[in-house]
Amino acid sequence: METALDKLVELLIKNYPKKVLLDDGSEVMFRPLRKDDGKSLAEFFRNLPLKDRVCLKEDVSDPMVIENWIWNLDYDNVLPIVATHDDRIVGDATLHFSPIGWTKHQGEIRITTDVNYRVKGLGTRLTQDVIHIAQELGLEQISLEISPELQEAFLLCQKLGFKQEAVLKGFIMDLEGKETDLVLMIKHLNA
Ligand SMILES: CC(C)(COP(=O)(O)OP(=O)(O)OC[C@H]1O[C@@H](n2cnc3c(N)ncnc32)[C@H](O)[C@@H]1OP(=O)(O)O)[C@@H](O)C(=O)NCCC(=O)NCCS
Repeated sequence: METALDKLVELLIKNYPKKVLLDDGSEVMFRPLRKDDGKSLAEFFRNLPLKDRVCLKEDVSDPMVIENWIWNLDYDNVLPIVATHDDRIVGDATLHFSPIGWTKHQGEIRITTDVNYRVKGLGTRLTQDVIHIAQELGLEQISLEISPELQEAFLLCQKLGFKQEAVLKGFIMDLEGKETDLVLMIKHLNA
């Protein structure tokens, strides 16, 4: 019998790498993150402005965080799809999911794009790709957890049909030690 993991591998082989055209006519490649991407991924996150990094779930400017991700790369728990241009990573979207427990029908998406590639549709296309993978895996809901400061991410979610379902007051402690709210955005995939 075909398992969820077999299905995922089949999907990744069938769909990637793939060329994606952005709104300004430039071309990027989408593919799953690989073990040899550590340097490029660290550079991508190092180049993010502090205002973007400050409320992300992990301190992506810390090389140990990236090293840890690469070391633990395991597509059946966290599936990262990266966008590359001229061999540089310019976007990263991850689908976090767990086949066991009470969240087995859910996935969580995290998304970041390079500042020089923004407002060209890259964030939209990467998120749509990850949503498609979540659908193929049979997930029923996907979430995005953001702080109210991440206005662009909120607009992106709204555009793609996510609804704001909860606000946890003062739930996040940002990189600068400031408490901020957590906004939970959910999209139902079979609605
Ligand atoms: C959120 C983010 C991924 C969007 O990436 P992007 O490549 O600019 O995305 P797109 O070009 O596809 O824009 C998607 C939508 O977001 C909105 N948007 C994004 N940037 C915007 C801006 N500067 N002004 C107004 N709307 C904006 C628009 O609704 C846009 O859709 P439209 O162009 O069809 O109107 C990017 O801004 C980012 O990496 N931010 C920092 C990290 C973050 O907040 N991650 C989310 C937490 S997991």
